[in-house]
Amino acid sequence: MDNKPVDWAKLRTDFPSLDQKVHSKPLIYFDNAATSQKPRAVIDALVHYYEHDNSNVHRGIHELSNRATAGFEAGRVRAAKFINAKNSDEIIFTRGTTEGINLVAATWGAANLKSGDVILLTEVEHHSNIVPWQMLAKKTGAKLAYIPVTGDDGVLDLSQLDALLTRQVKLLSMVHISNSMGTVNPVAELCARARKLGITTLVDGAQSAGHMPIDVQAIGCDFFAFSGHKICGPTGIGVLWGRQELLDAMPPYQGGGEMILTVGYQKTEYKKAPHRFEAGTPDISGPIGLHAAMDYLDAIGRENIWKHDQELAHYAYDQLAALEGVRLFGPKQGRAGLVSFLLDDVHAHDVVTLADQGGVALRGGHHCTQPLMHKLGVESTARASFYFYNTQAEVDRFIEVVEEIQKFFAS
Ligand SMILES: Cc1ncc(COP(=O)(O)O)c(C=O)c1O
Repeated sequence: MDNKPVDWAKLRTDFPSLDQKVHSKPLIYFDNAATSQKPRAVIDALVHYYEHDNSNVHRGIHELSNRATAGFEAGRVRAAKFINAKNSDEIIFTRGTTEGINLVAATWGAANLKSGDVILLTEVEHHSNIVPWQMLAKKTGAKLAYIPVTGDDGVLDLSQLDALLTRQVKLLSMVHISNSMGTVNPVAELCARARKLGITTLVDGAQSAGHMPIDVQAIGCDFFAFSGHKICGPTGIGVLWGRQELLDAMPPYQGGGEMILTVGYQKTEYKKAPHRFEAGTPDISGPIGLHAAMDYLDAIGRENIWKHDQELAHYAYDQLAALEGVRLFGPKQGRAGLVSFLLDDVHAHDVVTLADQGGVALRGGHHCTQPLMHKLGVESTARASFYFYNTQAEVDRFIEVVEEIQKFFAS
């Protein structure tokens, strides 16, 4: 990445949706961990596709189909570069992180796990990295185990790792950045430990892919999943990366058109990966929009984005920590671009509702990490999650709004 200074204020003007008022207040969009806003470049790529190239992919011989196929497959090559995959055949298009993890559970999991095997997760997982494994465990008789979290700081207790990495563990599946705590898990270190024991690894990159440089080969995982909509791309498109040798050995996920070589009334021959995992007409505009999003992010530089997001998060954390009656979650240092908190005697939903009246879009709830919330003894938290188009002035306004909410409930 280059070191030229980034004009953050100018970048912000690329996002039409940010330029609006909500309840007569300028919108402050702090719900980026749920989904990001879309820059003009992505919107234009989608409009261009539908205005000029719209057609079905792969089997066409006519011009529009060739263009649609070229755009779709160029998205695959771009995605491979985005995460430093060895080649684009390792990129499977999915609906998002959730579908990517379900795909691995349904294919690799069903083919490789048996009764008594252990699937090792962490206590900070999103539901999408818990429920598919529970479903698989029910089918196969495998068991789930969890690397514990130390407490409100959302950090994994790695002192337990030796005891947890038993010979029964066949898969370690873990989140890269926790969406509810902001913890950055040491995934490369954990993958290295797992690899020594022959354990297959999956990294949930939903919160990391668009916020920091990703190199799947350096992480050393076997699978990596992320969602387009969280990285300035369209909804409904995501990526599952898998090591070629694993993908080639995996049975298909769904059957239908696009994924076959030949079909007889009794028997079918499947295509190789990635096409064997992409049955039916895919989301064609998705990879085209995602391509534009990846170009857009890498023109800024994900190292720059990472630094910017972290600075905002630490700034917000310190401001909140200076207030009375605030319980903060996630690590004090080294956090990703979000803060999760509770105000004494105020429900998180009330915080979010009142913040919305002030133009600040937060999220309140269990953030799809219900087991973690139970473990920490809370039902929900309020969360402000940042992206590169957010500013320190917006954090200042957010803190003012939090203070107004505290005053309102104190009166
Ligand atoms: C850490 C994490 N994993 C997985 C997901 C699921 O992503 P999607 O809903 O795009 O499939 C999310 C979404 O918030 C997430 O934050």
